[in-house]
Order: sequence, then C-alpha cells, then structure tokens
Amino acid sequence: MSRIAYVNGRYQPHGSATVHIEDRGYQLADGVYEVVAIVGGKMVDEDPHLDRLDRSLSELRIKPPMARAALKLVMREVIRRNGVRDGLIYMQMTRGVAPRDHKFPKQAETAVVIYARRRPIAAQIAQARRGVKAITVPDIRWDRCDIKSIALLPNCLMKQRAAEAGAYEAWQVAADGTVTEGSSTNAWIVTKAGELVTRPLSDAILSGITRLTLLKIAREQGLKLVERPFTVAEALAAREAFVTSATSFVMPCIEIDGKPIGNGGVGLLCTALLDHYLAYIEREGEPVDAVPALRADAGTAQAAE
Ligand code: PDD
Repeated sequence: MSRIAYVNGRYQPHGSATVHIEDRGYQLADGVYEVVAIVGGKMVDEDPHLDRLDRSLSELRIKPPMARAALKLVMREVIRRNGVRDGLIYMQMTRGVAPRDHKFPKQAETAVVIYARRRPIAAQIAQARRGVKAITVPDIRWDRCDIKSIALLPNCLMKQRAAEAGAYEAWQVAADGTVTEGSSTNAWIVTKAGELVTRPLSDAILSGITRLTLLKIAREQGLKLVERPFTVAEALAAREAFVTSATSFVMPCIEIDGKPIGNGGVGLLCTALLDHYLAYIEREGEPVDAVPALRADAGTAQAAE
C-alpha cells in the first residue's frame, strides 16, 4: 500500500508531497503539531490531543484551519488510506505561506500537513520490559514549553546527545537543579517512600496527554501521587524512574547518567502502570473506522485527489 499524506486540502503521495518554500513553518518554525498514537486500529486520547492542539493554536494566534469534526474526518481518512493499525498520526499546522517577515502576515491561510506512519508496538513494549537509559542535560529551551511548537531545535540537540551516549532520553534540568521533562517525554520518579512524583503543569513543560491519562490511572489505583518538581539527586536516589509520551507509552528508565536506579531493573510500579496503560488503550481507544456521525457535518474537509 503506497503512503498518502494530506497537504492543504489534498491527499497526495507521501513521497512527493510538498509545502511552499515560504511556508512560515519551514522558514520560521511558526507552527504547532500533535502526535497521536494508533494501537490496534484505535486512536489513543484523540480528543485530549485535539484540545491541546486548539490551545497551542490559540496561544500563537494561528487560525484553526477547519472545524474539529472535519479534522477528525481527515485524520480517519489518512489512517484508513495508509492502512495503519499500529503506529501514529502526525499533524502540523503553520501560520501559512507569506513573504518572509517576522511579523504575522496580514493574509495567510493556516497550512496543514497530516500523515500517518506504521510502527509495530511489540518491539517497543519489549524495550519497555527491559528498560532504557537516560542522561541529564541542561534545559536550554524557551519559557513557553507548554505550547507544542514545531520549534524543536533544543530538543533535537539533547535527544542527539542522549543517542550518542547510548541513551533513550535526555532529562532536561532547569537552572535550579530540578528536572523539567525529557526532550520528547514527561519525566516521573517513584521515591523510596513509594510516592509517584511528576512535575506540575506550568510554562516549563508540555502538558503531556499520556501524563494526564497516567495521573488518572494512578488516582484510580489509589497510588500516592505528588505533583511537584524533583531534583536530579532525587531521581538518582529514586526506587523507579520512567518517561511517558504518545509514542513511548510508559518507558522505564533503569539508569540515569550511568547510575542504576533502584535495583537497576524495571520496577514493579512501572510494570503495573504500563500494564494499566495498555489495558486503558484497549478499553478506551477511539476506533478509526467507526464514526459515521462525523460524515454528516464534515464541514470544510476537502477530499480532493
Ligand atoms: N512528544 N514533553 C515534550 C517536550 C514532548 O515533545 C512530548 C511529546 C511530551 C509527551 O506528550 P504526550 O504524552 O502528549 O505525547 C512531553 C511527541 C510524542 C513528539 O514530539 O514526537
């Protein structure tokens, strides 16, 4: 099956799909994005991701390109046309095409790219059962990390540093010594006292959708939960550590900066949280091919070939 991408109202072959050279996303990183996991033909937390997308757009004063019902229809069409049962859907919206100028253009239409990619989850779950390594790095990003902006250069530099150190993730550390988040994940620890700790929401981190879901699961399970900043020293002394994201799910970190966390293996709580998360996906996911009601009010969705 050949891959198809949705680009500004048209479904195009993925390999030859293009955007304009003066797209402000391309020139100025003036745009936002979302990544939604697809597992067993279901989207995971679709509406929370779309809520966050709306918020990112509104914070940057970029006009939503279409109504949510229309967007949902396009997402399903992209997933269907690409035959993705396990993988992800990527959506990017930029302020559009205009002669290069830092100021917002007076007239520009929000540019949209949506594509889906297959990604077997078995290998990823096996990796989670083994655990991964993390390193710590300085957080050199801006003060609005709550916006899911496509300006990801600091994140790329730090993820590359992690890869070169043989690690999965780079935990970013603020000037005060507290961990903010991973380069593309939220960071968590389990203290020796059994408390599950993650940083509270602020402009310093992205409000991860997986983080929100896991907080819900942790509350349902009656776990001791504290949203507070924690230091690198606390992380090194923790019983367990892990990261969460739409593509990592719950990924145990068994080593940070070369030092084993807890007993150096994947902990019991991490394992239980991953199992609960996988069960949640199976139970709650939104089937991609079961939303006929949307077709009635597809609004501005264009299906031009
Ligand atoms: N990254 N923090 C950052 C900086 C992120 O980029 C991400 C997601 C998260 C976790 O958010 P969520 O649980 O909603 O995926 C936290 C995506 C997956 C990416 O850039 O590919």
